[in-house]
Amino acid sequence: MFKENFVVAIDGPAGAGKSTIAKLVARKLVFAYIDTGAMYRSVTWKFLRTKAEFNENFIGELANKIRIDFRTEENKVFVDGTDVTEAIRTTAVTNLVSRISAINTVRIAMVAEQRRMGESGRVVLDGRDIGTVVFPNADVKIFLTATVEERALRRYKEMTEKGMAVSLKQLQEAILNRDKQDSEREISPLRQAKDAVFLDTSNMCIDETTDFIINLVRGKEHDLRRS
Ligand code: CDP
Repeated sequence: MFKENFVVAIDGPAGAGKSTIAKLVARKLVFAYIDTGAMYRSVTWKFLRTKAEFNENFIGELANKIRIDFRTEENKVFVDGTDVTEAIRTTAVTNLVSRISAINTVRIAMVAEQRRMGESGRVVLDGRDIGTVVFPNADVKIFLTATVEERALRRYKEMTEKGMAVSLKQLQEAILNRDKQDSEREISPLRQAKDAVFLDTSNMCIDETTDFIINLVRGKEHDLRRS
């Protein structure tokens, strides 16, 4: 039996498969799952809808007012009552999200919400700064990555399966560009936490990766119970 509040933090670069893995880990352990990338994507979507010029103060205000609702059973995300599950994955959102997530006021609002959602239960969160900033005392921290070629290929397969016309080369460039922006920003850059377990999944399948993390979590729970 897990203790009442147990936090699993999964961080890593773009397209490493964090959300797929985090969702499966959460389902198998019966933990809640919080996709923090979907939150920054939601703010980006909301901003794009206004058609306003890029303005940090304005975007910060939007982030303070936004209502993001994860309907886990339905696998859906709602923003201010609208289903945005598909809309937050469009190329327009993906290409802008790293600029939006670098805004300090946006991060303050999102991190406060992530802590509120995660502080009183058993939860898996995935993102860029979960183990370093949002929950530095998380019980288990993973840094999930794969080569950029592999990450681009996974995204390519995912998108072409949905019937989207994409170029592998362009996807790879977009991923590298987002990684650069996410790693070089001043506030909460993408970093591996010192106490995170590094996991290169380039040659690992989804089940292997999921089982590896579940074993880590169970091991930690076991240690906590004995101490
Ligand atoms: O495409 P992928 O699933 O890899 O990205 P995502 O997890 O949906 O995150 C989208 C973007 O949100 C990232 O590129 C970051 O700019 C930002 N993000 C962040 O800054 N901090 C987080 N904790 C999560 C995402």
